[in-house]
Amino acid sequence: MSKNKNILKHLAIIMDGNGRWAKERGHVRTKGHEKGAEVTREITHYCAEHPTIETVTFYAFSTENWKRPKYEVNFLMKLLDSWLKNELETYHKFGAKFETVGNIEGFSPKLQETIAYIKKETAHHTNVTQILALNYGSREEIAKAASRLAQRNEPITEESLGNELNTPYNDIDMMIRTSGEVRLSNFLLWQLSYSELFFTETLWPDFTIEELEEIIDQYVNRDRRFGGI
Ligand code: IPE
Ligand code: IPE
Ligand code: MG
Repeated sequence: MSKNKNILKHLAIIMDGNGRWAKERGHVRTKGHEKGAEVTREITHYCAEHPTIETVTFYAFSTENWKRPKYEVNFLMKLLDSWLKNELETYHKFGAKFETVGNIEGFSPKLQETIAYIKKETAHHTNVTQILALNYGSREEIAKAASRLAQRNEPITEESLGNELNTPYNDIDMMIRTSGEVRLSNFLLWQLSYSELFFTETLWPDFTIEELEEIIDQYVNRDRRFGGI
């Protein structure tokens, strides 16, 4: 009897290597972020047309990324704002709904406004949900969720805590990190418990749909046992 293939519903990506990509070409690091943002659009397009992918979560800015030089942080904030505004048209074209996880309140009021606007305008789309993890840290997410339950005097169980997280979406089936780093960097620690993990040397601005398809091919054939035999 042939083995059932795994179905991919929720894909998560740590988009890493933008700075190195730019440096290799003699550019300033921020050039890599610009190119990386284009790749994010292409991959979202692919996910919107994919028959089984419902959600794609991208790690775009971590709670630790504030440690970067001020000019780079400022650039990333501006890029996010202008990118989202430009993206509205493509969200409509792809039928993609825009969502976020992370501490949006940590951003400027203007950027928060843009984020809220794009969410509202795309809320009706159903081909794919694109979640950007923005000012996101998994430890913070888990600690805050536990604290809210405790404040409401509710029991803390796997189910209640899982539902209280800011990402009560279906579990993540597969996670890809680009750029050769083999770590999670505080990304979705709870939600990745049973995900299939893939690490590629490719830098994010060089990542292609062809490579994504190769990884998905490996994923569908992996033996996911979830503790069973
Ligand atoms: C990922 O690329 C994008 C962000 C973290 C915002 P990096 O900026 O981390 O690129 P490298 O890892 O320095 O090459
Ligand atoms: C993780 O990448 C965060 C994002 C991709 C947004 P980093 O480049 O910040 O992670 P470290 O510092 O290499 O762990
Ligand atoms: Mg990096």
